[in-house]
Amino acid sequence: MTCHVLVGGFFGDEGKGKIVSYLAIKDKPSVCVRAGVGTNAGHTVEYKGKTYKLRQIPSGFIQEKSKILIGPGVLINPDILKKEVEETGVGDRLKIDRQCAIIEEKHIEEDRGSSFLKGKIGSTGTGCGPCNAERAMRRVKLAKDIPDLAHYITDVPLEVNTAINEGEHVLIEGTQGTFLSLYHGTYPFVTSKDTSASQACADVGVGPTKVDEVFVVFKSFTTRVGAGVLPGELSEEEAKKRGWFETATVTGRKRRAAPFNFELAKRAVMLNGATKAAITKLDVIYPECSGARSIDKLPEEGLTFIRKVEEVIKIPVCLIGTGPGALDMIDLRDEV
Ligand code: IMP
Ligand code: MG
Repeated sequence: MTCHVLVGGFFGDEGKGKIVSYLAIKDKPSVCVRAGVGTNAGHTVEYKGKTYKLRQIPSGFIQEKSKILIGPGVLINPDILKKEVEETGVGDRLKIDRQCAIIEEKHIEEDRGSSFLKGKIGSTGTGCGPCNAERAMRRVKLAKDIPDLAHYITDVPLEVNTAINEGEHVLIEGTQGTFLSLYHGTYPFVTSKDTSASQACADVGVGPTKVDEVFVVFKSFTTRVGAGVLPGELSEEEAKKRGWFETATVTGRKRRAAPFNFELAKRAVMLNGATKAAITKLDVIYPECSGARSIDKLPEEGLTFIRKVEEVIKIPVCLIGTGPGALDMIDLRDEV
């Protein structure tokens, strides 16, 4: 039985899509299941010359042998799901849980029309907050109520647990980041749900005794979209100069940028019970290592940075992203 969970360690946009897609290719999970909030997330996968920006479909879909599932905790926007099914061609191996809650137009209007959510908090305007609020009020529509989705409906917790019990490999993909958690983040500048590894497991119906590894993903620098503190925040000009300036996958907004935050990383490891860390975009900080696939290709400073991170967070950094492609990765898992 092997069940791996993957979550973001900062404020989202750590590069979870890239790490999940790599793990899906290498570890060949029989099940890739998406957890997390909903369509507010955007996970980027680059593989075989194509770029996918996924808001619903698990990033492991590029592994053609995997079943592709979405857990009951996740919010579904049927229009976005349909579009992504077309883009990814996973229609015949995708299943969603009967109890996924449905984002309706009214939720999107409420999110976008709210001077508090959209204005003050800087929400993504995707309707996730209002939909989760209605869910808490026990009035939300569920996937099983939508005829257009009938073809995809299954019992996801049963499928996932059956796979685990039969000794198959399951990969659970969390969304957002630890410090966007409703419980553990920088409240009120957070998303509408917890985002830790425990929540990711609850989202798909897996209990804590079933989990073998928790991967926490950090980017080599931190970014944040929307409002809320970002310690060490750089000016836009400085971020551009360093090559750290990014725009958001879902909303196209500017991402604010700051250096790698060791204190937050340490706390993220604690909150998630993480056993292994992944660090993405090392090539952005050290362009010499662009595309590297072995540790001896890292410049001295890059290696020193990785060792310093390990010293602070007390778990091994076993995956290092060196470029946007799913396979641009230094994989040290055999060495730890
Ligand atoms: P909401 O989740 O759309 O309500 O937005 C609440 C806060 O979380 C805002 O600051 C958003 O920018 C942020 N947020 C939500 N999802 C993501 C994500 O996937 N990546 C980065 N930021 C996110
Ligand atoms: Mg994102």
